[in-house]
Amino acid sequence: MKVLVFSSKDFEVPFLKVANRGKHKLKFIKDSLSTHTAMKAVGYDAVSIFSADEACFLTIEKLKDFGVKYITLRSAGYDNVNLRAASRLGMKVANVPAYSPYSIAEHAVSMLMALNRKLIESNRRVKQYNFDLNNLIGFDLNEKTVGIIGTGKIGAIMAKIMNGYGCKLFGYDKMQNQELIDNYGLEYVELNSLCEQSDIISLHVPLNSETHHLINEDLISQMKDGVIIINTARGAVIHTDGVIKGLINGKIGALGIDVYENERGLFFKDHSDKIPNDDMLMKLNAITNVLITGHHAFLTHEALTNISNTTIYNLDCWENGNNTENELTK
Ligand code: NAI
Repeated sequence: MKVLVFSSKDFEVPFLKVANRGKHKLKFIKDSLSTHTAMKAVGYDAVSIFSADEACFLTIEKLKDFGVKYITLRSAGYDNVNLRAASRLGMKVANVPAYSPYSIAEHAVSMLMALNRKLIESNRRVKQYNFDLNNLIGFDLNEKTVGIIGTGKIGAIMAKIMNGYGCKLFGYDKMQNQELIDNYGLEYVELNSLCEQSDIISLHVPLNSETHHLINEDLISQMKDGVIIINTARGAVIHTDGVIKGLINGKIGALGIDVYENERGLFFKDHSDKIPNDDMLMKLNAITNVLITGHHAFLTHEALTNISNTTIYNLDCWENGNNTENELTK
């Protein structure tokens, strides 16, 4: 199968080549998929895309016209694909539903610990041979309350890790995970109640019409003073302006985000020669108790191996005339 790999990054190409073992003709390009770049897919059977690519109705319609039959995502999240349009046009879309929930959950915990124990500021001082400890006080995680919003694959691992720290766990999800209740003492509560009682809130829901701006000013006002919010899910699950207000007025103690509401077109590229015109990001960068990483929670050896293997597996299935269980368009 001829496959155009959009948004390919240098670090992932070797993983994809190893997984492919020469089976499919993969062409790697750095452009992200959009209505403007869709025409690059002329003559390809399939395209592979990532979270920064945009497969809206128009883009999918163009891909279809250009003869593309399959879209395989190298991500778990698929909020950037209009699945209804793909289904209607008879195009198959598949994702990598579980490549390593550990990579994301462990990154979320890393952000939490870096913020709580002020590791970045501490290291900055030490690099200048400044061993002053003032303003570096954190808190024990033991016996603190962690609210996990979305207790699916990643949220469940987060719960288990936080249980290991000795935390009390609250969960909010449409579906309850009995194992977390039975073995890790997680208690499912309403969203308001989780926000009122949690010292730390970690987000692990997909972005959809119900979760868009789930964390808004109203909910923030109900949170504990000094709450730490960690978002490794999708940027628009939090209303960023509202969170900035909460940080400035001291309601929110710290914020760790691996994802950002306006990350499309910004993340995954080096903009250091021309600072992006993005007031919200500038404000976030200016606040000391905010830690931002550029959507790299998934970036572990294990995750990249699994993403590549599943991507090639999805293509194999389609080439052999089979369905893949990872299909999102059924
Ligand atoms: P999952 O599908 O296993 O879990 C999501 C959970 O959210 C499910 O339990 C579901 O019932 C719940 N949920 C969905 N909509 C809800 C709603 N409206 N209200 C309450 N609960 C709701 O997904 P997984 O693998 O845990 O991933 C979660 C999200 O993490 C992905 O959708 C993706 O956006 C993000 N992600 C971020 C990555 C990164 O590099 N930062 C990498 C991978 C995923």
